[in-house]
Amino acid sequence: MKIPAVTSVGCCCGRGRAERAGRPTRILRSSLLFPMLLSLVWVPANAEVRSITANPAEDCSTQMNIGWHANLDEVGCSVVYTERGDGVWAGATTVAGKSKRSDVFDGIDSKTPEGKDWKEEAKFLDYGVTLTGLKPDTDYMYKIEGGEGAVTKPVRYFKTAGAGEFSFLWFSDVHAYTPIPSRVKNLNSVIEEALKIEPGVDFMFTTGDVVAWGGSYSFWKYLLDQPFAANYMFADVIGNHDWMKRRDGGSSEFFAVAHNNPTNGYAGQEGVCYWFIYGDVLFMTFNNEVMKTSPETEAEAKAWAAGVIEKQKGKFKRIFIAEHYQWFDGRNGRSSWYDHWKAFCDEHHVTLAMSGNNHIYERTHPLRGDQVVAPGLGTVYMEAPSSDGERGVKAGPLTLNADKLVFTYSSQEHSNQTEVKTIGCVLVNVSPQSIRTRLVYLDEKKQVQVADDHTFATTTGEIAPKATSTAVTP
Ligand SMILES: [Fe+2]
Repeated sequence: MKIPAVTSVGCCCGRGRAERAGRPTRILRSSLLFPMLLSLVWVPANAEVRSITANPAEDCSTQMNIGWHANLDEVGCSVVYTERGDGVWAGATTVAGKSKRSDVFDGIDSKTPEGKDWKEEAKFLDYGVTLTGLKPDTDYMYKIEGGEGAVTKPVRYFKTAGAGEFSFLWFSDVHAYTPIPSRVKNLNSVIEEALKIEPGVDFMFTTGDVVAWGGSYSFWKYLLDQPFAANYMFADVIGNHDWMKRRDGGSSEFFAVAHNNPTNGYAGQEGVCYWFIYGDVLFMTFNNEVMKTSPETEAEAKAWAAGVIEKQKGKFKRIFIAEHYQWFDGRNGRSSWYDHWKAFCDEHHVTLAMSGNNHIYERTHPLRGDQVVAPGLGTVYMEAPSSDGERGVKAGPLTLNADKLVFTYSSQEHSNQTEVKTIGCVLVNVSPQSIRTRLVYLDEKKQVQVADDHTFATTTGEIAPKATSTAVTP
């Protein structure tokens, strides 16, 4: 599948490739007269590189993972990167990509943007690079070049960790689906509004269901073409929709290939479950599609996470965990995956536990030993709202766990008989001694609203005494 892109005319090989392919070009030939103009002129071409992404590497202060896909004959692609202020790329570094062939999406039942049935056509080289030796707390720009310098995509950006404070924009459940572009448009709208409120956001984080069917490669490509992916590091968590095909089950491999996540997960979960350190926070992500299959698979995930905490001790001060399935059901407050994880969060002093899937925004008081405790002594459990304006679940009165849940939100306006029009995201500001979270949403008139603006103190030094929890893992 071809996508429109731009190719710098400063690249002679790019011109040759476009001409060889018989594609129209608008090349300024008078380069001798106007050399300075050359770098400003761009021509349309068909992209041989797609689904470019900047994912976290283990140490985000000096490393970043860049991933992309290229046509099978595009061997020898590279990442070219430099500091954002280096307008002429004078200090640019080129790093050769490593690739392997992927056919995992090819032939899978899907839909075209027009809503017609079709089978995905997706045989490509799956590229990944870990950039190392980066400067902390620095804005970078990067682009991908083909083996013969043939492909130059528009410039993309990421920022390294290392500042005393950092912030991220957390969204969930957009279910990107090419036949219904309003879903991604709604996401983009709320991100845009949130960035007006907090322009200095360092990266994007999600708790999954970013695409409608993970087996549909064209949906991933569509998602990664959006501004949030071009302008920020993107940390993603696998959801059930990211795992599934249109029919006949699914695979975690779709998520692994769509990203270039650190391959530091446990056996079988490399590039799916992963950890990274940003600032003084250890982030760990989990795969519900595996954990839900048996108590043993859940125990395996927890054992991996406990091992990571032990091994990385001294390199972080706080722990954030993230999975797709909700901690509580915002329709009534019923406990859901909170029961599975509360003992782990107590034992390892998790500061923030993030989830999605419920399509309802939620925040708890700090909890420990199944009780509300003072800030800094427990885990705050939160869920991001859905962001597509279509598949929201209506928040209802809390008849259960009303003592634990502080705030829930969804749109109350229906998009169909059963669902509501929620379009929201969460801004998270992490300071050395506290965390601020804000729900940002578009109301029924598409006006931006900020709600549940909350700052809580966090424990970064002395660990609170171990709680005696009666929690069991079902
Ligand atoms: Fe969802």
